[in-house]
Amino acid sequence: MQVDEIRRVVIVGAGTMGQQIAFQCAGHGFEVAMYDLATAALELAGERIDTYAQGLVSDGAIGAELKQSALERISSTADADAAATDADLLVEAVPEDPKLKRRVLAQFDALCPPRAIFTTNTSTLLPSQLASATKRPNRVIALHFHLPVWVSNVADVMPHGGTTPEVTEAVREFARRIGQVPIVLEREHHGYVFNAIYSAMNREAITLAERGVASIEDIDRAWMGVAKAPTGPFGALDLVGIDTAWTITDYWARKLLFSRQLRRNATFLKAYVDRGELGVKTGKGFYTYPDPAFARPGFVEGAG
Ligand SMILES: NC(=O)c1ccc[n+]([C@@H]2O[C@H](COP(=O)([O-])OP(=O)(O)OC[C@H]3O[C@@H](n4cnc5c(N)ncnc54)[C@H](O)[C@@H]3O)[C@@H](O)[C@H]2O)c1
Repeated sequence: MQVDEIRRVVIVGAGTMGQQIAFQCAGHGFEVAMYDLATAALELAGERIDTYAQGLVSDGAIGAELKQSALERISSTADADAAATDADLLVEAVPEDPKLKRRVLAQFDALCPPRAIFTTNTSTLLPSQLASATKRPNRVIALHFHLPVWVSNVADVMPHGGTTPEVTEAVREFARRIGQVPIVLEREHHGYVFNAIYSAMNREAITLAERGVASIEDIDRAWMGVAKAPTGPFGALDLVGIDTAWTITDYWARKLLFSRQLRRNATFLKAYVDRGELGVKTGKGFYTYPDPAFARPGFVEGAG
């Protein structure tokens, strides 16, 4: 499969990432079929994509015409068969659960044309852990985005040992064509490049809060004040989704059995998840939305 043959992209999982990837692909001229389990999830995804698109128009990042044509290129369906029809490239963006991802990839392997390339947006897993769920392991590769996809436009392209070089090349070029800077990894690595660095920072930030060393606001204030960043670690985790952050922390806490602090960090995050405080997507996480304290003038100086 050459990149020129990629026309239709199927997004499996229309959550935080699926929505943004869908709009990014459609905005760069690709036909997009967005699939999720329930019509309600797809309706919510459609509303959120509209809001993102309107925001980009208001900021002057895109014109109203581009917005309109991009939205027209996105179709939504809860019918897996319909979504898979004529797919050239699949983006798997379901929750970070290896069993679920393998199940979904196997399901779509049976439905998509044999030529289709399967990409996973997994945060922590390796494509080699997922590829064998399909009968096309040599066409399975990680293509991992960062939020917000149109601003933090770097995408990790991570093949596993059995991925065909032509597939890696096609996905690298596809990433470029949807406005991403592709970073092609030379070997598999949990957490890719940016995330490997970023998750170490998050782990330390959560540890500071879990141990009661400093408040969530002060931890963010310190980061924002020194790095001159618009958000601190906790403001950023609200955007990522505390459920996603918990899943990742819990995964590593189980894998690295010796890390008692990671287990405590997972418990700290789980309390938010259990209260339904998942971050921006539920209107409350470490901060309250749409007007989080960290975004108010004077927050860094201590007025917030
Ligand atoms: N949130 C981030 O910042 C971020 C960044 C990079 C990568 N990721 C990774 O992307 C993936 C998706 O994360 P997210 O934050 O979008 O999750 P999310 O929970 O916001 O969305 C997941 C979506 O998948 C749907 N889903 C669940 N089971 C499904 C199935 N069997 N078939 C189809 N759809 C199904 C859910 O209904 C939901 O809409 C995860 O692997 C995550 O680790 C997340």
